[in-house]
Amino acid sequence: MKVTNAEIVISAVSQKQYPNDQLPEVALAGRSNVGKSSFINKLIHRKNLARTSSKPGKTQTLNFYKINEAFYFVDVPGYGYAKVSKKERKKWGSMMEEYFETRDTLKAVLLITDIRHEPTKDDIQMYAFLKHFDLPIIVIATKLDKVPKGKHAKHLKRTKQTLQVDPEDVVIPFSTETGQGKDESWSAIRSYINI
Ligand code: GTP
Ligand code: MG
Repeated sequence: MKVTNAEIVISAVSQKQYPNDQLPEVALAGRSNVGKSSFINKLIHRKNLARTSSKPGKTQTLNFYKINEAFYFVDVPGYGYAKVSKKERKKWGSMMEEYFETRDTLKAVLLITDIRHEPTKDDIQMYAFLKHFDLPIIVIATKLDKVPKGKHAKHLKRTKQTLQVDPEDVVIPFSTETGQGKDESWSAIRSYINI
Protein backbone atom coordinates (compact mmCIF):
# COMPACT_ATOMS: atom_id res chain seq x y z
CA MET A 1 0.00 0.00 0.00
CA LYS A 2 1.51 3.33 -1.04
CA VAL A 3 0.62 6.07 1.42
CA THR A 4 0.82 9.46 -0.27
CA ASN A 5 -1.16 11.44 2.25
CA ALA A 6 -1.72 11.13 5.98
CA GLU A 7 -3.10 13.80 8.26
CA ILE A 8 -4.75 14.12 11.64
CA VAL A 9 -8.31 15.33 11.16
CA ILE A 10 -9.53 15.48 14.73
CA SER A 11 -8.81 14.39 18.28
CA ALA A 12 -12.29 13.55 19.47
CA VAL A 13 -13.73 12.81 22.90
CA SER A 14 -17.35 12.38 21.86
CA GLN A 15 -19.54 11.31 18.99
CA LYS A 16 -20.48 14.76 17.77
CA GLN A 17 -16.82 15.42 16.95
CA TYR A 18 -16.28 12.33 14.79
CA PRO A 19 -15.72 13.06 11.08
CA ASN A 20 -18.91 12.66 9.06
CA ASP A 21 -17.59 12.14 5.55
CA GLN A 22 -18.56 8.45 5.66
CA LEU A 23 -15.10 7.11 4.81
CA PRO A 24 -14.43 3.61 6.15
CA GLU A 25 -12.49 3.30 9.38
CA VAL A 26 -10.09 0.87 11.03
CA ALA A 27 -9.59 1.39 14.76
CA LEU A 28 -6.83 0.25 17.09
CA ALA A 29 -7.28 -1.27 20.52
CA GLY A 30 -4.86 -2.56 23.11
CA ARG A 31 -3.08 -2.02 26.39
CA SER A 32 -1.39 1.25 27.24
CA ASN A 33 2.12 1.34 25.83
CA VAL A 34 1.69 -1.81 23.75
CA GLY A 35 2.49 0.01 20.51
CA LYS A 36 -0.80 1.13 18.93
CA SER A 37 0.41 4.55 17.80
CA SER A 38 3.75 3.08 16.69
CA PHE A 39 1.87 0.55 14.55
CA ILE A 40 0.07 3.34 12.68
CA ASN A 41 3.31 5.27 12.12
CA LYS A 42 5.03 2.17 10.77
CA LEU A 43 2.25 1.39 8.32
CA ILE A 44 2.11 4.93 6.96
CA HIS A 45 5.91 5.54 7.04
CA ARG A 46 5.73 8.45 9.45
CA LYS A 47 8.06 8.77 12.38
CA ASN A 48 5.71 10.37 14.85
CA LEU A 49 2.45 11.49 13.22
CA ALA A 50 0.65 9.40 15.80
CA ARG A 51 2.44 10.58 18.95
CA THR A 52 4.20 7.79 20.84
CA SER A 53 5.95 7.58 24.19
CA SER A 54 7.94 5.18 26.31
CA LYS A 55 5.49 6.00 29.12
CA PRO A 56 1.97 4.56 29.13
CA GLY A 57 -1.04 6.83 28.66
CA LYS A 58 0.26 8.93 25.76
CA THR A 59 -2.88 8.76 23.60
CA GLN A 60 -5.85 10.19 25.50
CA THR A 61 -8.42 10.88 22.80
CA LEU A 62 -9.82 9.21 19.70
CA ASN A 63 -7.45 10.42 17.00
CA PHE A 64 -8.70 10.21 13.43
CA TYR A 65 -5.96 9.94 10.80
CA LYS A 66 -7.15 10.31 7.24
CA ILE A 67 -5.06 8.18 4.90
CA ASN A 68 -4.88 8.88 1.14
CA GLU A 69 -8.30 10.59 1.41
CA ALA A 70 -9.64 7.02 1.39
CA PHE A 71 -10.03 5.79 4.96
CA TYR A 72 -9.26 6.53 8.61
CA PHE A 73 -7.00 4.93 11.15
CA VAL A 74 -8.51 5.69 14.56
CA ASP A 75 -5.93 5.66 17.33
CA VAL A 76 -7.35 5.20 20.81
CA PRO A 77 -6.16 5.42 24.42
CA GLY A 78 -4.97 2.13 25.86
CA TYR A 79 -6.34 0.19 28.80
CA GLY A 80 -4.80 -1.63 31.72
CA TYR A 81 -2.51 1.06 33.10
CA ALA A 82 -2.58 0.67 36.88
CA LYS A 83 -1.93 4.31 37.73
CA VAL A 84 -5.25 5.54 36.35
CA SER A 85 -7.94 6.84 38.72
CA LYS A 86 -11.36 5.25 38.89
CA LYS A 87 -12.87 8.38 37.44
CA GLU A 88 -10.48 8.35 34.48
CA ARG A 89 -11.16 4.68 33.85
CA LYS A 90 -14.88 5.35 33.76
CA LYS A 91 -14.39 8.21 31.32
CA TRP A 92 -12.29 5.91 29.11
CA GLY A 93 -15.00 3.22 29.24
CA SER A 94 -17.78 5.58 28.19
CA MET A 95 -15.72 7.07 25.38
CA MET A 96 -14.75 3.67 23.98
CA GLU A 97 -18.21 2.20 24.34
CA GLU A 98 -19.80 5.15 22.59
CA TYR A 99 -17.36 4.75 19.72
CA PHE A 100 -17.46 0.97 19.27
CA GLU A 101 -21.20 0.75 19.79
CA THR A 102 -22.31 3.46 17.42
CA ARG A 103 -19.77 3.85 14.66
CA ASP A 104 -21.31 2.56 11.44
CA THR A 105 -18.26 3.31 9.32
CA LEU A 106 -16.02 1.13 11.51
CA LYS A 107 -15.03 -1.86 9.37
CA ALA A 108 -12.46 -3.69 11.47
CA VAL A 109 -10.44 -3.41 14.68
CA LEU A 110 -6.74 -4.06 15.08
CA LEU A 111 -6.27 -5.55 18.53
CA ILE A 112 -2.63 -5.01 19.42
CA THR A 113 -1.07 -7.40 21.92
CA ASP A 114 2.49 -7.79 23.19
CA ILE A 115 3.89 -11.06 21.82
CA ARG A 116 6.41 -11.27 24.68
CA HIS A 117 3.66 -11.82 27.23
CA GLU A 118 0.56 -13.91 27.64
CA PRO A 119 -2.47 -11.73 26.77
CA THR A 120 -3.85 -10.10 29.93
CA LYS A 121 -7.35 -10.33 31.38
CA ASP A 122 -8.01 -6.93 29.86
CA ASP A 123 -6.93 -8.20 26.43
CA ILE A 124 -9.28 -11.17 26.72
CA GLN A 125 -12.08 -8.85 27.79
CA MET A 126 -11.44 -6.47 24.90
CA TYR A 127 -11.45 -9.34 22.39
CA ALA A 128 -14.82 -10.50 23.77
CA PHE A 129 -16.17 -6.94 23.79
CA LEU A 130 -15.33 -6.48 20.11
CA LYS A 131 -16.81 -9.88 19.26
CA HIS A 132 -19.98 -8.84 21.07
CA PHE A 133 -20.36 -5.98 18.59
CA ASP A 134 -19.69 -8.34 15.69
CA LEU A 135 -16.64 -6.38 14.67
CA PRO A 136 -14.03 -8.10 12.52
CA ILE A 137 -10.81 -8.36 14.52
CA ILE A 138 -7.24 -8.47 13.28
CA VAL A 139 -4.85 -9.39 16.11
CA ILE A 140 -1.43 -7.79 15.82
CA ALA A 141 1.09 -9.45 18.13
CA THR A 142 3.73 -6.73 18.27
CA LYS A 143 7.27 -6.29 19.65
CA LEU A 144 8.31 -9.48 17.89
CA ASP A 145 11.88 -8.16 17.76
CA LYS A 146 12.04 -8.64 21.53
CA VAL A 147 11.44 -12.39 21.32
CA PRO A 148 14.25 -14.72 20.22
CA LYS A 149 13.57 -16.29 16.80
CA GLY A 150 13.38 -19.80 18.20
CA LYS A 151 10.44 -18.81 20.39
CA HIS A 152 8.30 -16.98 17.81
CA ALA A 153 6.01 -19.92 17.08
CA LYS A 154 5.51 -20.75 20.74
CA HIS A 155 4.60 -17.17 21.66
CA LEU A 156 2.25 -16.83 18.71
CA LYS A 157 0.46 -20.01 19.70
CA ARG A 158 0.07 -18.76 23.27
CA THR A 159 -1.45 -15.51 22.03
CA LYS A 160 -4.01 -17.40 19.94
CA GLN A 161 -4.84 -19.84 22.71
CA THR A 162 -5.21 -17.34 25.54
CA LEU A 163 -7.42 -15.03 23.48
CA GLN A 164 -9.31 -18.04 22.11
CA VAL A 165 -9.05 -16.47 18.71
CA ASP A 166 -11.68 -17.56 16.19
CA PRO A 167 -10.26 -19.49 13.26
CA GLU A 168 -11.54 -16.77 10.91
CA ASP A 169 -9.55 -14.03 12.66
CA VAL A 170 -5.96 -13.52 11.59
CA VAL A 171 -3.10 -13.10 14.07
CA ILE A 172 -0.09 -11.30 12.65
CA PRO A 173 3.32 -11.24 14.33
CA PHE A 174 4.64 -7.71 13.97
CA SER A 175 7.58 -5.45 14.75
CA THR A 176 8.11 -1.76 14.22
CA GLU A 177 11.84 -2.40 14.45
CA THR A 178 12.16 -4.96 11.66
CA GLY A 179 9.02 -4.14 9.67
CA GLN A 180 7.97 -7.77 9.89
CA GLY A 181 4.22 -8.24 9.44
CA LYS A 182 3.72 -4.92 7.68
CA ASP A 183 2.62 -6.27 4.29
CA GLU A 184 0.43 -8.89 5.90
CA SER A 185 -1.20 -6.20 8.04
CA TRP A 186 -1.99 -4.10 4.98
CA SER A 187 -3.50 -7.14 3.21
CA ALA A 188 -5.68 -7.92 6.21
CA ILE A 189 -6.82 -4.29 6.48
CA ARG A 190 -7.56 -4.10 2.77
CA SER A 191 -9.72 -7.19 2.96
CA TYR A 192 -12.17 -5.14 5.05
CA ILE A 193 -12.08 -1.80 3.28
CA ASN A 194 -12.20 -0.86 -0.37
CA ILE A 195 -8.90 0.89 -0.95
P1 GTP B 1 -0.74 4.56 24.67
O1 GTP B 1 -0.96 5.67 23.70
O2 GTP B 1 -0.14 5.03 25.95
O3 GTP B 1 -1.93 3.70 24.87
O4 GTP B 1 0.43 3.61 24.06
P2 GTP B 1 0.57 2.98 22.59
O5 GTP B 1 -0.06 1.65 22.57
O6 GTP B 1 0.14 3.95 21.55
O7 GTP B 1 2.15 2.74 22.51
P3 GTP B 1 3.26 3.57 21.68
O8 GTP B 1 3.04 3.39 20.22
O9 GTP B 1 3.32 4.96 22.21
O10 GTP B 1 4.58 2.75 22.02
C1 GTP B 1 5.00 2.51 23.35
C2 GTP B 1 6.47 2.15 23.39
O11 GTP B 1 6.69 0.88 22.77
C3 GTP B 1 7.37 3.14 22.64
O12 GTP B 1 8.54 3.33 23.40
C4 GTP B 1 7.65 2.42 21.33
O13 GTP B 1 8.89 2.80 20.75
C5 GTP B 1 7.70 0.97 21.77
N1 GTP B 1 7.34 0.01 20.67
C6 GTP B 1 6.21 -0.01 19.95
N2 GTP B 1 6.21 -1.02 19.04
C7 GTP B 1 7.40 -1.65 19.18
C8 GTP B 1 8.03 -2.79 18.53
O14 GTP B 1 7.48 -3.43 17.62
N3 GTP B 1 9.26 -3.15 19.00
C9 GTP B 1 9.90 -2.48 20.00
N4 GTP B 1 11.09 -2.92 20.38
N5 GTP B 1 9.35 -1.41 20.63
C10 GTP B 1 8.12 -1.00 20.22
MG1 MG C 1 -0.81 5.75 21.71
